[in-house]
Amino acid sequence: QHCFTKSEDGYLYCEGLKVHDIMESVERRPFYLYSKPQITRNVEAYRNALEGLNSIIGYAIKANNNLKILEHLRHLGCGAVLVSGNELRLALRAGFDPTRCIFNGNGKILEDLVLAAQAGVFVNIDSEFDLENIVEAAKRAGKKVNVLLRINPDVDPQVHPYVATGNKNSKFGIRNEKLQWFLDAVKEHSNELKLVGAHCHLGSTITKVDIFRDAATIMINYIDQIRAQGFEVDYLNIGGGLGIDYYHSGAILPSPRDLIDTVRDLVISRGLNLIIEPGRSLIANTCCLVNRVTGVKTNGSKNFIVIDGSMAELIRPSLYDAYQHIELVSPAPSNAEKATFDVVGPVCESADFLGKERELPTPAKGTGLVVHDAGAYCMSMASTYNLKMRPPEYWVEDDGSVSKIRHGETFEDHIRFFEGL
Ligand code: LLP
Repeated sequence: QHCFTKSEDGYLYCEGLKVHDIMESVERRPFYLYSKPQITRNVEAYRNALEGLNSIIGYAIKANNNLKILEHLRHLGCGAVLVSGNELRLALRAGFDPTRCIFNGNGKILEDLVLAAQAGVFVNIDSEFDLENIVEAAKRAGKKVNVLLRINPDVDPQVHPYVATGNKNSKFGIRNEKLQWFLDAVKEHSNELKLVGAHCHLGSTITKVDIFRDAATIMINYIDQIRAQGFEVDYLNIGGGLGIDYYHSGAILPSPRDLIDTVRDLVISRGLNLIIEPGRSLIANTCCLVNRVTGVKTNGSKNFIVIDGSMAELIRPSLYDAYQHIELVSPAPSNAEKATFDVVGPVCESADFLGKERELPTPAKGTGLVVHDAGAYCMSMASTYNLKMRPPEYWVEDDGSVSKIRHGETFEDHIRFFEGL
């Protein structure tokens, strides 16, 4: 069951509500529209898949940092993956259990590490200098920090180079040849550090689970080596990265169950706790960006649908050439011609497109047009470029009512940065 469905008469629905009606009832467009029940269903898919394993679902907050969504994910039993001090603060604000949170990153600064040490979250060691900083943070906080070593398994995730992380050229993780140096350093700082596991993250939008199996096999090998030196490591963290069906092609992509089943026997064979760090696969398909058509134009060789949303609200197509499915929320008039369009925003540069060469019926001015799968890395990567202030967010609740879950940013918010200067 999926939250967004198209009826035979050509209307798009979200959990039984006409998206067109929601669009007419909110004060501002574009806006993000989520389904709360879909978020629940996505978490349940992981929870069911993980049955029988000791595990932590560490939701990657960078994918979507809406506080209401975080509170809901926490309520459903998720932990969180953090990549900055502010994400850590937000996770604590949302009530996440710090012992189910992991602080990750190649450039964690000392102040944030002190916060992490005080809070008692897991911290991944990414480099020599990172280890030094974690030791210093532990001293300042007066607390021992549970650490994992971020190892680079060097497998090719077969994705866009900007979202590949677990290969040789990556800036993330330790140099594996120096593993011994790190183990010695952890031993030397046994008052400050407790090594509890190993971490890897291969990349994002991965659509083949064999890749996770390969990486887990390599990681298990490292864990054996680490244990052989007397460390009691209990956690294998295989990161996030499971892809979703952005194309709406009907292709069967690996599910959370497929992912977990491919590593399950390895995890059990070593008596490990499994940590996973999904972002996209938990939240992307729960949301679309709802826009309004401003007008249709042609330059002679190309047709354009111009909408009020843009690369400022949703940058993935511009930044990664990513495909996100686009459709109209209401049926086109019976005389509407089908044509091939680039769907573009009003921002003053040619990188401002949401979709290229999409076959759509020619929409009337004011028609609603959605960009699907906008729950992950869309709002969290939105900017105020061209002073297009960040849009409001709504969700459909379990009882079918619609609530605002984030205010839209306003012009006054921008002016506030200059007050009193
Ligand atoms: N864990 C770590 C260490 C990560 O770096 C990431 C994502 C995740 C977990 C979550 O990965 P996911 O399950 O969401 O694939 N902005 C890009 C995606 C960047 C992903 C960065 N790391 C995009 O819009 O496609």
